[in-house]
Amino acid sequence: MLVDNFGRIAKKLRISVTDKCNMRCMYCMPRGKVSWLNEHDVLNYNEIARLVTILADLGIDRIRLTGGEPLLRPDLQNLIVALTKIEGIKSISMTTNGILFGEKARAFKAAGLEGVNVSLDTFKPARFKEITGVNRLDTVIEAINAAEEVGLSVKINTVVIRGWNDDEIVDFANYARDTGHVVRFIEFMPLDGSGIWRSNLVYTKREMIELINRSLGGLVPLDNFSKCDLNDTNDMNYKNNSIKHENQINKSDPATLFSFCDGRGTIGFIPSMTEPFCSSCDRMRLTSDGRLLTCLFENPGYDLRNMLRSGKPNYYIKRKISENVMKKPEGIIKIIRTNALKSSLNLMHTIGG
Ligand code: 5AD
Ligand code: SF4
Repeated sequence: MLVDNFGRIAKKLRISVTDKCNMRCMYCMPRGKVSWLNEHDVLNYNEIARLVTILADLGIDRIRLTGGEPLLRPDLQNLIVALTKIEGIKSISMTTNGILFGEKARAFKAAGLEGVNVSLDTFKPARFKEITGVNRLDTVIEAINAAEEVGLSVKINTVVIRGWNDDEIVDFANYARDTGHVVRFIEFMPLDGSGIWRSNLVYTKREMIELINRSLGGLVPLDNFSKCDLNDTNDMNYKNNSIKHENQINKSDPATLFSFCDGRGTIGFIPSMTEPFCSSCDRMRLTSDGRLLTCLFENPGYDLRNMLRSGKPNYYIKRKISENVMKKPEGIIKIIRTNALKSSLNLMHTIGG
């Protein structure tokens, strides 16, 4: 088991398969020219699979593929197939910006992908271009629909930034109600490569809940539906929604999930800044150049690539990983407590969200 000094147990691994991206989201990427890693410095699929085998042996059971944009890595379905075969791995999912996902959705599903999180921060084409640098809103919506069509579980990730897209929070909640896709609102974290993060840009979970309550009426926590007196619990729609909600509840999910008294739609909040979930964090990250990050705010992390390439045996790598996990920092909760918040604490596109 991978346990740290705070007693947290690592179960999930996020693998950034490339630092490259075909978008330039202003809350993520540096402005101007970005220098990418050399191809040789990026782990190949065999190296990734070997590390996952070692980590699965240490108790990691869920994998999420991220980037940059993971689909910029060719033949990603081959990696998915290889990872599904590793003993102990229960699920593989992916976080994507959606530009290239639609056409691959079926192949990924066939390869064994379970679910996909698609980033979407606005429904306005001009604003989409401003935020991401590209004009591909329709493509992303099509990708979301394609993912749903082939039977992948789909979640939408929406980073809310004050003054940028907080006027669309209710539209996103309505989208969740109309489509059945879970929309998760994420508080803006200082992982921006661009240096734009300021604490006053963080639109808080509390503000979001107040806003939605004012416009759409009572949000109820998914695990506390008894709060609604108005439910007709014999209604078939209500029953189906309840079953769906029960399946959506996942204790280790950083998102707290809500629905409405009519049972229609699920939305989640990831209050990374105002209610950091560091104390129950069960994840770690592998960067595309093979560094192990036990926390989003760790830098540069621990170089595993060199160990792989210098021929170290599995038992040795395993021991080194365990030693490193032990030293996992407390997390953003400490950065907040010590007033050490500032922009660009780490680069999201190199570490994977
Ligand atoms: N703050 C919060 N979330 C972010 N993401 C990228 N940068 C940030 C940030 N600074 C999210 C993206 C994507 C996931 C990989 O991480 O929206 O869904
Ligand atoms: Fe690319 Fe995702 Fe970063 Fe946007 S948030 S620039 S899509 S890696």
